[in-house]
Amino acid sequence: MSLLITNIGELTTQDAERRVLTDAAVVVEDGRFAWIGAAADAPAADDVHDAGSRAGLPGWVDSHTHLLFAGDRSAEFEARMAGEAYAAGGISVTMEATRAADDYELTRLLLGRVAEAAAGGTTYLETKTGYGLSVEEERRHARIASSVVDQVTYLGAHLVPPGAVADEYTELVCTEMLDAVRPYAQFADVFCERGAFDEDQSRRVLTACRDAGLGLRVHGNQLGPGPGVRLAVEFGAASVDHVNYLEPADVELLAGTWSGWDVASATGTPGVVATCLPACDLSTRQPLAPGRELLDAGVEIALASNCNPGTSYTTSMAYCVGTAVLQMGLSVTEAVRAATYGGALALGVQDTVGSIEVGKRADLQLLNAPAAAHLAYRPGMPLTQAVFRAGERVDGRG
Ligand code: NIG
Repeated sequence: MSLLITNIGELTTQDAERRVLTDAAVVVEDGRFAWIGAAADAPAADDVHDAGSRAGLPGWVDSHTHLLFAGDRSAEFEARMAGEAYAAGGISVTMEATRAADDYELTRLLLGRVAEAAAGGTTYLETKTGYGLSVEEERRHARIASSVVDQVTYLGAHLVPPGAVADEYTELVCTEMLDAVRPYAQFADVFCERGAFDEDQSRRVLTACRDAGLGLRVHGNQLGPGPGVRLAVEFGAASVDHVNYLEPADVELLAGTWSGWDVASATGTPGVVATCLPACDLSTRQPLAPGRELLDAGVEIALASNCNPGTSYTTSMAYCVGTAVLQMGLSVTEAVRAATYGGALALGVQDTVGSIEVGKRADLQLLNAPAAAHLAYRPGMPLTQAVFRAGERVDGRG
């Protein structure tokens, strides 16, 4: 079966030449883009979807989420808005609630959040463990997550659970827990921040997870300057996430990892992606990550939702893109790229998803708007009109 999506008013491809086509069309065959060009030249297909002159762009690639959780922390959010500082300790509240939820309930909650993300244009999703924090619970959460989302990141090193001894718990994360989760995960992460894991503990986690064959990412420089970026670069991590407090040396280190990459043609060897999480920054009242500075230094960045119950309870990538344009100094094209191709780079799947190119998976969203600029021009509006993943509607409206 082939599908022609035609009458696309503006098509932001995010391909190597960053083409933006007008009056465009795409043809999907076997779930992949088979043809892209002017609507007037489009070949016939078995089925036709008329985009009604709407703007089209790649589906969002959300490269940083914590979607597997139960419970509610709105009281903590309200306290924060009243002036309390964010602290990693809130994670244990979610740990209790998530441990208490059975497989059926956790799967139901996860599917609901994935459906919400898909309705908002997300077509590729990573999620982390990290609310289990025991061998059996981390295994259970990883197993459930792997049956629903595209990629699972092992985050046993999210918090030292109450009552545990930090060094003993770190050892568990590096041994028995890692073995238990390994069959279900592609990446590992460590919360390298004050109140969570220090540099030495983070190094142990990264070493063990790398030796177990997992890709790496580091949660770093969120709550203050710290060793996160340095560790991510040293270990060749795929991404360092949050990056709110960067010293000039951190930016330089990150930029150095991209020396083998040609930004203009998106070819070469990728470096460490800096993942910016603007919804989290607003919800924790942290300074926004310096996305503009990073881009200007030659660092590829990703934008992600960081959907979690503590610091960023939203799956809306459109909100992140709008905020990046309005408050981080990114152009619309740069923000859309960071939320699509940038996310794909952070997850190591840039050859498969993240842009509209022949051969790639046919992930595309249409907006109820004539141009992608409306994502920032009309912030907060539910602009997503139709979402295709591998050529199939996944927005629940089709
Ligand atoms: O990214 N690694 C960090 N975890 C979350 C916070 C999770 C929580 O507070 O529940 C973050 O902000």
